[in-house]
Amino acid sequence: MKIFLDTAIVSEIKEAWELGIIDGVTTNPSLIMKSGRNLQDTLTEITNIVDDCVSGEVISLDTEGMIKEAYELMKISSKIVIKVPMTKNGLKAVRILSKENIRTNVTLVFSANQALLAAKAGATFVSPFLGRLDDIGHESLILIEDIKQIFDNYSYKTQIICASIRSPLHVMNCAKIGADIATVPFKTLMDMFNHPLTDNGIERFLKDYEKSTK
Ligand code: G3P
Repeated sequence: MKIFLDTAIVSEIKEAWELGIIDGVTTNPSLIMKSGRNLQDTLTEITNIVDDCVSGEVISLDTEGMIKEAYELMKISSKIVIKVPMTKNGLKAVRILSKENIRTNVTLVFSANQALLAAKAGATFVSPFLGRLDDIGHESLILIEDIKQIFDNYSYKTQIICASIRSPLHVMNCAKIGADIATVPFKTLMDMFNHPLTDNGIERFLKDYEKSTK
């Protein structure tokens, strides 16, 4: 499974990249706002850190505006993936961009039918949001299973990025389903390393080592 880091905070990206465990970065307008910086500068710095797959989201709601923004973002780096919302205009933009070999990530996906339409439009990635579905009492993992089954049935090349990840359990279950990618907040990624029995085991090994070398 590929792991993308879901943040626009450069220090988090640097730390995760140096651990050698992330394959890309996803941002969105809320994450950019939290970073306190503008989209262009943030994406420029991120593309200087990671090797590929840096999602930058357009804000226009009309297809022409999305395409215009996409061309501007692509001037930053070929590592950029254009994130567009799951709307009719968004999929029109995906169809145009995919014909120009510009990679797209269709975001705010909450149903298997939305993912199916995005794949038919030629999206490189679709981003179903797990946490926000769980928040309203919907079983988000069933959505991932449904999308995976549909994409496998028709051999769609579109990759599933599990987004709105809120816990290591989300990541594990998406991996068990066979999703291509999980885009993970920094804290969740760090939590994936931890287990209390590992800590206890290290502590005991150190104590026993000390005893054995006295
Ligand atoms: O990649 C989408 C993600 O940033 C949204 O997360 O927790 O705001 O639903 P959340």
